[in-house]
Amino acid sequence: MCSPWAVVAMEERAELVTTLGDEELIAEIARLKREKNAVILAHYYQYSEIQDLADFIGDSLELSRRAQETTADVIVFCGVHFMAETAKILNPSKRVLIPDVNAGCSLAESAPAEEYRRVREELRQQYPNHVAITYINCSAEVKALSDIICTSSNAERIIRSVPDDVPILFAPDRNLGKYLQRKTGRPMILWNGTCIVHQSFSIRRIEEQLAEHPDAELIAHPECEDVVLERADFIGSTSALLRYVATSPRQTFIVATEPGIIHQMEKAAPSKRLIAALPEQEGCRCSECPYMKLNTLEKLYRCLLTGEPEVRLDPDLIERARRPLERMLELSKP
Ligand code: 13P
Ligand code: SF4
Repeated sequence: MCSPWAVVAMEERAELVTTLGDEELIAEIARLKREKNAVILAHYYQYSEIQDLADFIGDSLELSRRAQETTADVIVFCGVHFMAETAKILNPSKRVLIPDVNAGCSLAESAPAEEYRRVREELRQQYPNHVAITYINCSAEVKALSDIICTSSNAERIIRSVPDDVPILFAPDRNLGKYLQRKTGRPMILWNGTCIVHQSFSIRRIEEQLAEHPDAELIAHPECEDVVLERADFIGSTSALLRYVATSPRQTFIVATEPGIIHQMEKAAPSKRLIAALPEQEGCRCSECPYMKLNTLEKLYRCLLTGEPEVRLDPDLIERARRPLERMLELSKP
């Protein structure tokens, strides 16, 4: 049978260079989604209009589970590249598309596979029994070199599953690593990576915001620096922050994570006041993830129309990267 991507008519391709309005794009995306039997998975940091047409929105763990379970032929991953790669690793028979293939992640970039391999080899000399727990924000190659993957929502549980006398290498987020050390009392060998977005929040300006809104609670993602986390009333993954806002009796929240999530918070708790935490520099948009924001409605439409960019991974790499991901899913069963 002819692939549905091969039969895209020339007129339709020509349409790629014309400008459709948002409403037409949304209608076309819905049509193409049905035609290709595609599912759209989106992270909370995507533009609101993308979140609004997604079949599922979630944090990294929930999105991984959805990708693994889907029966659709095509997964369109509106998120960053490591998330789309994870979808491919967990469900390799599906075609996985990402609207912009350049949607990277500063944490994933901080751990190049060759450097990670070298560090692990050196550590094996010193601590032959060490375990490498790696945050999901890393490349498929680094996943394949790790023992267990974790996300911000299951990292504590996964660390506690490792016997006390076994040394742990935790990569690549040093802020999340430090937070987990404080939480579990477990010393770990930490990689020195950071998220450029969460690193940008300024405790000085957050203190000003809290002074201006004395009833507000500060809620933060664990990728933030420890000065912000130490001041926070609640720390959690994006989904945990969303649940907290929806269920807390408080009315006002200073939100120290990427502001894309405020869209779902407003939907879940329309009467509550949600204030984006500020970065140091006035007027700077550095708390917006420049990678997540590469995906646009138009690029989403184009990728559904053409079947590109597609995430392609070597079958051997898929096999090796799947084991530490499956260990994570096994260890984080409800
Ligand atoms: P979550 O898994 O909490 O959604 O975090 C993903 C991420 O990239 C945060 O910067
Ligand atoms: Fe990576 Fe930070 Fe963007 Fe999350 S917010 S995808 S950790 S750069």
